[in-house]
Amino acid sequence: MMRKFLIGGNWKMYKGARETEEFINTLKTSKVDISDIDVFIAPPFTSLPVAIELLSNSNYAVGAQNMFWEEEGAYTGEISPVFLKELGVEWVILGHSERRIYFGETDEGVRKKLKTALRLGLNVVICIGETEKEREEGKAEEIVKREIIEALKGAEVDPERIAFAYEPIWAIGTGKTARPEDAEEMHRIIRGSLGNKGEEVRVIYGGSVKPHNAEELLRQDNIDGALIGGASLDPVSFIEIIEAVRRV
Ligand code: PGA
Repeated sequence: MMRKFLIGGNWKMYKGARETEEFINTLKTSKVDISDIDVFIAPPFTSLPVAIELLSNSNYAVGAQNMFWEEEGAYTGEISPVFLKELGVEWVILGHSERRIYFGETDEGVRKKLKTALRLGLNVVICIGETEKEREEGKAEEIVKREIIEALKGAEVDPERIAFAYEPIWAIGTGKTARPEDAEEMHRIIRGSLGNKGEEVRVIYGGSVKPHNAEELLRQDNIDGALIGGASLDPVSFIEIIEAVRRV
């Protein structure tokens, strides 16, 4: 089964509209061929319009880092997936550990968001992963399986629209990457818990992916791409990671 590589740049709360424009101008000068890779950047909400406009004639897609599960209503401060769709957003990241840790996002919230996103035709990357303590206690497998089961309750596993990002929390923003063989083992477990569509679903890795370690990670059979935080903020390192995909 050949799964198409998927690379996402999760910008977190970095880059307003002006810096987004600068990034994209540099990205567009790169001749890296992404015709057979899915690549998206996920800037903050307020930078989405400029990103979508500047990337409209390119193979790069734009994603959002979060959304609400309702389409509209009295939900002060929330962003409707309908508005994201209207802008031209194609991807949405759900359940990132920073949302779970700092904003009280729950498995149930992820499930509701997933349902709405799929109904509206957004592609989703569902983030799962264990803390350092959970890993030390031998619970990593149990945690990711629970996150998957809870997110998917009542939803069809559609490999065209749903991807998972295995992001061990201890590796995010720390410079500590999972060893490729350990990541591969977790990806195999994740795929195995996705039922009969598992072989088709993309399971990407996130957690301190950098130009120097991307290739080794991406060479693993069950690692289908990367969700990149810090290294996606610099167009040069983002492009270097895409080039690493091309070599795999
Ligand atoms: P990082 O972030 O690459 O900076 O570790 C990854 C993520 O949070 O998706």
